[in-house]
Amino acid sequence: MATTDDQPYLLGLRLRGRRVLVAGGGAVAGRRVPALLDAGADVSLVSPEVTGSLEGLAQAGRIHWARRRYAAGDIDGAWLVCACTDDPAVNAAIAAAAETQRIWCVRADDASQSPVWTPASGLAGDVRVGVLSGDPRRSAGIRDAIVAGLRTGSLGARRGRGHRSGVALVGGGPGDPGLLTVRGRQLLAEADVVVTDRLAPRSVLHELPPDVQIIDVAKIPYGRSVAQEHINAALIEHAQAGRFVVRLKGGDPYVFGRGAEEVIACLRAGVPVTVVPGVTSAVAVPAAAGVPVTHRGVAQEFSVVSVHVPPDDERSTVNWPALAATRGTLVLLMGVERLAAVADTLIRYGRSGSTPVSVIADGTLPTQRTIVATLDTVVPRVLKDGIRPPAVVVIGEVVNVAAEIAELVREMPPGAPGQPGLPGRAPAHRAGAAAQATAPETEQA
Ligand SMILES: C[S@@+](CC[C@H](N)C(=O)[O-])C[C@H]1O[C@@H](n2cnc3c(N)ncnc32)[C@H](O)[C@@H]1O
Repeated sequence: MATTDDQPYLLGLRLRGRRVLVAGGGAVAGRRVPALLDAGADVSLVSPEVTGSLEGLAQAGRIHWARRRYAAGDIDGAWLVCACTDDPAVNAAIAAAAETQRIWCVRADDASQSPVWTPASGLAGDVRVGVLSGDPRRSAGIRDAIVAGLRTGSLGARRGRGHRSGVALVGGGPGDPGLLTVRGRQLLAEADVVVTDRLAPRSVLHELPPDVQIIDVAKIPYGRSVAQEHINAALIEHAQAGRFVVRLKGGDPYVFGRGAEEVIACLRAGVPVTVVPGVTSAVAVPAAAGVPVTHRGVAQEFSVVSVHVPPDDERSTVNWPALAATRGTLVLLMGVERLAAVADTLIRYGRSGSTPVSVIADGTLPTQRTIVATLDTVVPRVLKDGIRPPAVVVIGEVVNVAAEIAELVREMPPGAPGQPGLPGRAPAHRAGAAAQATAPETEQA
């Protein structure tokens, strides 16, 4: 911990167009440079070698890279210097030169010798948070708590900010609240009104302040098209009354989500709309059951099909003979109740009855269930196991890859980290979004 007379003075540097020298091209520089670029700095980097991502930035012309060791004079004209080479003697020389020229210098290798400490920083909406506590881990923990609080609204992001207006269509992901995007959470935390669906991640609604009005459209007592008119009308009415409305939808708003209809209705009424993409169940639900929708040498393509009408229905625009002819993966949404017709059609047009099929219900939720069968056997299995919507059906050889992954996971020692989703098991639920943040390296007493 810094002593009282050694307390740092916290500033926000506005670096747009100003030269910053970064000496070193390793992991520390790899973390610093993107943040400097985000601040608009004119970054010069000196290092004989750099990481792949720094090389990519140099090739894209975003930084100036001198491919050599640091040399006297490199800091000339810089407003800030980051000494993050792997040689303490070089870092010390850079810091000494910077001191002589009265240029602020961050020494990554030795906080006690560094005139500048980098705070643990994070961003929640338009609020930037910086924490210095004397202990980098503690600072990062406090930063995470503040950022999470701002994002969920528990720290009162709605007070004292410029009030948002209009409508944000937010893709909520397949159900696990951890799969709601950071942007989606930020907008939710600022909402005055939330219009939500049956398949949206409803558990995040409990985090909202009590004065936020929640309209549950699953409870609108009309048929689908009338309900849609009511939803559009509610979005427009609340937005025109000056409230910021978040329309929280399951998955991605533009994947069988009628999102564009809502956007068009709002725009026609003169209401501005933002669309925040979401994690679609078409990919995430198979993944939660260990099924990759593509896999090298197994499937080079995947098709996502809505089966809200069966294949022989005159309203169906799906080319089922073409789908049956492909070796790619088929992902069916809204398909459980019409699975018999789909299986018959695919087999009739040439797909083998032994093609593997996985049906995953309540994907990513604690109630997730998975069955694995074939085109020939899937319908009796679904009936026998009582699988109900919402479910995603995956048809294709990729289903076998899940078995291979599951076998490898079973062989892992108990408690090993990072186990991917297993058939029939939901991934661990994580509360809140991970903080988007940079770790402090030199911030310690
Ligand atoms: C009207 S579509 C909406 C799709 C959504 N916009 C998306 O991108 O995921 C609803 C269908 O998505 C699938 N679905 C959505 N969430 C699911 C979940 N958690 N588990 C299984 N299927 C899900 C089901 O097939 C369900 O019938």
